[in-house]
Amino acid sequence: MYTIVLATQKGGSGKSTLAIGLAVAAQQAGHNVRVIETDRQGTLSNWQVRRNLAEPIVEPVYDARMIEQRLEAFARGGVTVTVIDTASGINAATTAAIRHCDLCLVPARPSVADIEATAPTLSVIRAWRKPFAFVLNQTPIRGGHRINDATSSLDERAPRDIAEVLAQPYINMRNDHQDALAAGLGVTEYDPSGKSAQELRSLWRWTLYKLAGDIVMQEANELKDAGELTEVEFPIMLQPQADKAEASSVRAYPTWADNNVTWETGF
Ligand SMILES: Nc1ncnc2c1ncn2[C@@H]1O[C@H](COP(=O)(O)OP(=O)(O)O)[C@@H](O)[C@H]1O
Ligand SMILES: [Mg+2]
Repeated sequence: MYTIVLATQKGGSGKSTLAIGLAVAAQQAGHNVRVIETDRQGTLSNWQVRRNLAEPIVEPVYDARMIEQRLEAFARGGVTVTVIDTASGINAATTAAIRHCDLCLVPARPSVADIEATAPTLSVIRAWRKPFAFVLNQTPIRGGHRINDATSSLDERAPRDIAEVLAQPYINMRNDHQDALAAGLGVTEYDPSGKSAQELRSLWRWTLYKLAGDIVMQEANELKDAGELTEVEFPIMLQPQADKAEASSVRAYPTWADNNVTWETGF
């Protein structure tokens, strides 16, 4: 079973929206999907009440100590993908979800402030040595070319591991997401041929690829720990660049700014 957590400090970045979008896209791709909601705000439970379909089942789990147990039960019961939606900020349940996940997705609007606000979440992710990726969400449609330019320069100039932690594609800001949520649907159900649906299906494929790839790397790391393999680096533990290490004593991870990426998106 793959367990994916949507987590970040900032409210309104799209954790719940993407949790629903990905859960439904995974289900449509043939997975047996469960959703855990650790946020008492209840966005996903409310979504399920509006939904006339039983699946995917949303299970509220607020007690951090219960998360591991629920995941084990899901895996035994044949669930193949669990998506966990978390509250904004860091609390015990979010930390437990991160601890027991296979991949953390960190949604952020494409502004430096939003990306910098992911720091506390990244600290927890790093503490548990979990693979993660940013998902740029609510990107402006008209600014799309600028974001693509930024990505190109990111590809050219950034260290390889930065590109590895930026999920593809970016999720544009579109009413579909809000309308789907209000209708108790995933965006891929709301307008299956729409652009938002295409983006979410692609994001699901990217996520799955990332999961499968990282699990291969994880196995390689286990072999390395057992002394059976050498020269395999932990897949996406970000390290500050050598020449920036001293200057960035506060931020122990690279930010876009460290890599001279400018987000000229009009935000
Ligand atoms: N890509 C998007 N396009 C348009 N609206 C979005 C998008 N992603 C999220 N939203 C809207 O932004 C608001 C906050 O999203 P939400 O998923 O609830 O964030 P979080 O769970 O991180 O607090 C909601 O009203 C949601 O419908
Ligand atoms: Mg939410």
